[in-house]
Amino acid sequence: MSRKLPLFKMKSIVKSSRVNRAWLNDHVNDPYVKQAQKEGYRARAAYKLKEIDETLHLIRPGHLVVDLGAAPGAWCQYVSRKLMPKTPTLPTTARAGSRIIALDILPMVAIDGVEIIQGDIGDLRVTALLAEQLQGQRADVVLSDMAPNLSGHGAVDAARIESLVELALDFALMHLKPDGALVAKVFHGSSYDDLFRRFQEGFGAVKRIKPKASRDKSAETYLVGLRPQFPHRHRLDGGVSPL
Ligand SMILES: C[S@@+](CC[C@H](N)C(=O)[O-])C[C@H]1O[C@@H](n2cnc3c(N)ncnc32)[C@H](O)[C@@H]1O
Repeated sequence: MSRKLPLFKMKSIVKSSRVNRAWLNDHVNDPYVKQAQKEGYRARAAYKLKEIDETLHLIRPGHLVVDLGAAPGAWCQYVSRKLMPKTPTLPTTARAGSRIIALDILPMVAIDGVEIIQGDIGDLRVTALLAEQLQGQRADVVLSDMAPNLSGHGAVDAARIESLVELALDFALMHLKPDGALVAKVFHGSSYDDLFRRFQEGFGAVKRIKPKASRDKSAETYLVGLRPQFPHRHRLDGGVSPL
């Protein structure tokens, strides 16, 4: 027996299928999607990190890089190709000392040279595991492209986004080297000014960057904190240690 859908439901289905079609159209014609397919990147996001890195020269041979919210792995691929190139003509020292540690709630397919941890950055057992994985080393660069699944409730989503950035900031301030850097995705909205102020308190310098590969209509942008301020460094036991 066929049942008629109420008009408001019909309208919402038509509207969402129009939105989906528009998204698909944008996606198929997107030059970064085509370039990612050609160059074997898992996501167009690789070009956002590439532009940030080429502007600020953050990732260098020998570095230890931690990538938070790493799946499907395009940022890790970019870092791995830069720190651990496969070309036989390059000196093997290009690989020496470099490490990449990736964390995501979702499973991630292996990438050459990347140590993968699956877990939630908000879970203390997971951050302890991540700290253990550092094996007493400090990170040169912490990356966070983390984004929550959106619920559609503005206030709830803003709080989730803010909390992920704060977790990345706390991790970075605890584990970065004095000349290290944090690259974090933030969103323009109610918590932006607050997060920017927290970056200013935590770092010697803060850069804002909206890479070309980040869609104009997206509220996302990136904050890069340079030179963590150690008087504010938190110890793993919850205290604050002046260095
Ligand atoms: C935009 S994607 C990252 C894309 C990635 N930079 C790349 O190049 O492939 C955001 C990721 O953040 C992850 N994420 C969201 N919340 C998280 C959390 N609490 N802990 C760890 N990862 C999280 C999601 O699972 C998702 O894979």
